[in-house]
Amino acid sequence: MQYFTFFFCVSAALLQTQNISPTHEVNIKNQTTDTVEVIQQVLHILFSTPVPYLSPGPYLVEYPYEYQFVINEPQKCEQEKPFVVLMVQVAPSNRAHRDVIRRTWGSENLVLDKVVKLFFLLGMQTGEDTQQVHEQLLQESKEHRDLIQSDFVDCYKNLTIKTMVMLEWLNLYCSTASYAMKIDSDTFLNVHNLVKMLLDAPKTNYMTGLVAYEAAVLRDPESKWYVPEDILPQSIYPPYTLGLGYILSLDLTEKLIEASRHIKALYIEDVYLGLCLHHLGIPPTDPPGYLYFSVFPVPYSPCEFSKVVVTTIESFIDRVWLWKNFKSQPKHC
Ligand SMILES: *[C@@H]1O[C@H](CO)[C@@H](O)[C@H](O)[C@H]1NC(C)=O
Ligand SMILES: *[C@@H]1O[C@H](CO)[C@@H](O)[C@H](O)[C@H]1NC(C)=O
Repeated sequence: MQYFTFFFCVSAALLQTQNISPTHEVNIKNQTTDTVEVIQQVLHILFSTPVPYLSPGPYLVEYPYEYQFVINEPQKCEQEKPFVVLMVQVAPSNRAHRDVIRRTWGSENLVLDKVVKLFFLLGMQTGEDTQQVHEQLLQESKEHRDLIQSDFVDCYKNLTIKTMVMLEWLNLYCSTASYAMKIDSDTFLNVHNLVKMLLDAPKTNYMTGLVAYEAAVLRDPESKWYVPEDILPQSIYPPYTLGLGYILSLDLTEKLIEASRHIKALYIEDVYLGLCLHHLGIPPTDPPGYLYFSVFPVPYSPCEFSKVVVTTIESFIDRVWLWKNFKSQPKHC
């Protein structure tokens, strides 16, 4: 019965595909051979013809998908056993940002006796300088051993892919760490405050950052974060932590990846994690201090910066100078 149904379907498919007129099939004389041939042909069509590419459209991204790591640090976590891993999302060609971070807060690798480990997460550079950027990255990786690169196209619209690949990487290569923090590259991170906060934080089902509550789904097609109703019918997002910097306990990586199999991959990465978290029934946690995460640049003063965990920084400020100044003043307030 099953065979028959299969044969019927595939014959129909074959007739359609090859435009064979049904009368042709009626003239079959040597039934056994013909049947075998038809099945072989159909199997060939089914399994060797590539599935035509279907774009997910402008509001969803290509995920889940088995992206591969092109540059990797598979042993680093096992060797160094970090308490918290900092995952900085940055464009492949943006070496300047990476160097600033390496010279500033990224250099703090032992804080309150806890190992802090920094990685940069990149996708693939496209365009004319692809090959050149690739070679520079290999060199940079040799020097610093802190690059993770995956083979999706790195662009703003693909940030959700970047974040999901980050979770996959953490799950595969760094699951012994207690916490991971995703952080944007144009920020100031007070690593001491981060570690101090995490020493008292829940160990599981924990995600914190600047939590957005009751954020409206933007329906104006002109908006940067427009989402049409057929993609997401609800008008309010579940609570989510803003993308400038959020922290999660490592047990959540696997759970969020699992949840992502049930939620269409929306292009807005922080909102998407909120949707996955909501699917798990886990609410994000507010940080213990309301000034800890600032999406608007906190004007620099050693006192103010001693109170934050993370803040964005205005682009005109020399961040290396700022860091040196901050570190040289032990009594901040
Ligand atoms: C069917 O055709 C094959 C090869 O063309 C032949 O070897 C086989 O004997 C034929 N079978 C019958 C039942 O005629
Ligand atoms: C996002 O990445 C996927 C996978 O590499 C790629 O096919 C797609 O074109 C990228 N999106 C954009 C807008 O470039």
